[in-house]
Amino acid sequence: MPALNPELRTVRDPEELERAAAGEFARLARQAGPKRPLAVALSGGRTPTGMYARLAQDPYRNLVPWQALHLFWGDERHVRPDHPDSNFRTVQEALLSRITVPEANVHRIPAENPDATAAAIDYEATLRSFFSLKEGQVPRLDLLLLGLGADGHVASLFPGSDALREGTRLVAAPWVERLQARRITLTPPAIKNASEIMVLVAGEEKAGALRQALSGAGTVDDCPALLLREARGRVIFIADRAAARPM
Ligand code: 6PG
Repeated sequence: MPALNPELRTVRDPEELERAAAGEFARLARQAGPKRPLAVALSGGRTPTGMYARLAQDPYRNLVPWQALHLFWGDERHVRPDHPDSNFRTVQEALLSRITVPEANVHRIPAENPDATAAAIDYEATLRSFFSLKEGQVPRLDLLLLGLGADGHVASLFPGSDALREGTRLVAAPWVERLQARRITLTPPAIKNASEIMVLVAGEEKAGALRQALSGAGTVDDCPALLLREARGRVIFIADRAAARPM
């Protein structure tokens, strides 16, 4: 069922965004247990970093059943995991270095592979194995965390990208002209099938993209966040006032 309308929750400022996002993450994560592991895909970028840091502190560090969570990534830069630009490194520094998550529960994208397409194929195999998928089946992440680019990109699906038209593979390795770099990213089928998608948006430079993502105006090609309107599950945008200001 397509999400009827993405929800928008407006908060005062980036600090309240961190708190709201950590609270939403914990609310959902607390459904996990030894017999019900949850699969959560984390986002890169700056916006969620404060939330990761907050989850590593009280009360969340002890509220969230970390042993029952399996952590994935929605996308990754084509760099080693210890590179400053690595989305894994961002989460490692802000969260994983401060809490105890079984190593077997951390499923990072193997972006150190010089062949980005091979890394994407490898990561797709990880998803297929974890979710015991048959050919043609799509994983159902319990929670997918996303940021929003000022150009409307989500994960590493940028405007005009061929990966936006990927309807079969779960992970792709598109060249991003604007960045002059390759990325590794979940594709629309994997994104749209998540049970819950939480998009964190802060700053007035995101206002145009947020407005378009919520209004439905335009095409997925020019605003990839519009693909979230075809999502099966709940889609909630948590935005600070600067990003959610009426234009
Ligand atoms: C990445 C992210 C990307 C990010 C947006 C917003 O790897 O950078 O996956 O999609 O979420 O670019 O980034 P900020 O949160 O830094 O504004």
